[in-house]
Amino acid sequence: MNIAVFASGRGSNFAAIIRAVKKGKIKANLALLVSDNPKAKAIAKAKRAGIKIALVKRENFNDKKGYEDKIIEHLKENNIELIVLAGYMRLVSAEFVAQYKDKIINIHPALLPSFKGAHAIKDAFDYGVKVTGVTVHFVDEKMDHGAIILQKAVMVEEGDSEDSLERKIHKIEHQLYPKAIQLVAEGKLKLQGRKVKILP
Ligand code: GRF
Repeated sequence: MNIAVFASGRGSNFAAIIRAVKKGKIKANLALLVSDNPKAKAIAKAKRAGIKIALVKRENFNDKKGYEDKIIEHLKENNIELIVLAGYMRLVSAEFVAQYKDKIINIHPALLPSFKGAHAIKDAFDYGVKVTGVTVHFVDEKMDHGAIILQKAVMVEEGDSEDSLERKIHKIEHQLYPKAIQLVAEGKLKLQGRKVKILP
């Protein structure tokens, strides 16, 4: 299975995926990094790992369709079968989702459907929850909404700060995302409406 990772920033999840592929924990081909941000640290990580990079800048296109069509061109060229969003800071359009139906997954640093959006860790911390966590889900046309593949809880303990909570969440993300990707690669997920069955 050919995988493309989409990342706009630091790329720590991307790095965890690279490590998991190298160790054989994900049995798939990490074929492409797609980024919209020339300053993304993920780009340097791809270079070091010898992974192809498609840098597609939104400002080079008049509209979102032109931008996404260019990305789709790269995906087709590389026979991409699974899109892994890992800190990709743009919403994908409904048309894009339709072209890659059930072939796009995302990781979110909270237990969905709680704390959707770009500041989930801060929002959960400020709210004062005692339990938060990580969600890996299929991407549909609504933000942070598609069917849930895996979730793992993270406790907010006395003495935790937003920073320490963030560190704990990222640690779990780096374990959970490779696990979910391997489940997809093995064909072990069966979608039944909003429910994702994990086959034995
Ligand atoms: C992660 O917290 C992920 O859950 C969210 O964006 C962040 C990306 O971090 N979608 P990184 O770029 O992988 O380090």
